[in-house]
Amino acid sequence: MQSNETVLHAPVRWGVLSAANIGVKRVAPAIHSSSNGRLVAVGSRNPIRARELFAFAPDVHIYEDYDSVINDPEIEAIYIPLPNSLHAEWTIKTLKAGKHVLCEKPLAVTAEQGLIMAQAARDTGMLLMEAFMYRFHPQTVWVLEQVAAGRIGEVKLIRASFSFNIGSRPHDIRLQAALAGGSLMDVGCYPINLCRAVYGYAPVAVGARVYTPAEGEVERYASTVLDFDEGCFGLIDSSFELPTRQVAEIIGENGMITIPLPFTPGHIETMVILALEGQTIQQRFAPVDQYRLEVEHFANCIRFGHQLYLSLEETIENLVTIEAIYQSASYPWPIK
Ligand SMILES: NC(=O)c1ccc[n+]([C@@H]2O[C@H](COP(=O)([O-])OP(=O)(O)OC[C@H]3O[C@@H](n4cnc5c(N)ncnc54)[C@H](OP(=O)(O)O)[C@@H]3O)[C@@H](O)[C@H]2O)c1
Repeated sequence: MQSNETVLHAPVRWGVLSAANIGVKRVAPAIHSSSNGRLVAVGSRNPIRARELFAFAPDVHIYEDYDSVINDPEIEAIYIPLPNSLHAEWTIKTLKAGKHVLCEKPLAVTAEQGLIMAQAARDTGMLLMEAFMYRFHPQTVWVLEQVAAGRIGEVKLIRASFSFNIGSRPHDIRLQAALAGGSLMDVGCYPINLCRAVYGYAPVAVGARVYTPAEGEVERYASTVLDFDEGCFGLIDSSFELPTRQVAEIIGENGMITIPLPFTPGHIETMVILALEGQTIQQRFAPVDQYRLEVEHFANCIRFGHQLYLSLEETIENLVTIEAIYQSASYPWPIK
């Protein structure tokens, strides 16, 4: 029998549902190289392709379906990078199978689904966290610390954008209504999350417009004013038809913080600019694998009972905001 000490130091044994692009390229390699985790198995509807894609982890077991992964007794934690419409179903199944879940953003299609998922986590005693990896990057942590310390005074305005040109990818999950695609769901959820993290609470009202091309199933632009009450606002936009672009400005009464690469700083050095009256500070951050920081945090929470850095309360508020934006724009959501 293993002693408690041995169990505490044993790596968390992970499974992955699908050979999704983000899993193969970023998160599974991060689990594989993490200091406290081991990649045990992957389930894919296309196991031959999955075997090729997971060549970086030759010991990983490839199952032909997702159920076999969640029922594998060796596995403790499952990473879910399925299309948005499948997050709720597979998260709930996995939690009920007694496994912890790190699920891709946005956690669910609606806040109601998110609440059911959160309840399933409580009922089963398993951990559930939405995979907003940028929150684990030291630059995001630093920015939130500067705001909390009052460096720029009371925050009154946040402007944040995230876009890329999806081009002609008709089969992309992001363009399919049945899979809960759309620019707000895919990239607009990041600016919403940033605004909520900076202000520390959800907006009290929103006003939004979205654009759906005549031949399209889902919106490709979303532009929103988030009202955080007392003269505090967020101005956010997302698009599938603009060049690759992301930026955030946090403007307080005494200064402002500019984050040129707020969401996918990835493996390059980044810089955040803190501009105060008569003083400009350029804070540099070394390249870091934010996905690895995310999975290591999650594994530490499993092993040592630490509190999750991203709470489900925050996640549900994000989902409420997404729905409020779509409602404000008279966009039918969820699309039936
Ligand atoms: N945090 C981040 O940095 C980040 C970045 C990109 C995406 N994401 C999120 O990650 C999730 C996946 O995005 P992705 O771009 O990686 O997706 P993707 O490459 O299209 O992969 C999705 C996978 O889901 C599986 N799947 C099951 N049912 C499907 C269906 N009906 N249609 C299509 N695929 C189906 C397929 O895997 P098998 O064939 O192997 O079973 C497919 O490869 C989304 O929720 C997205 O928002 C997060």
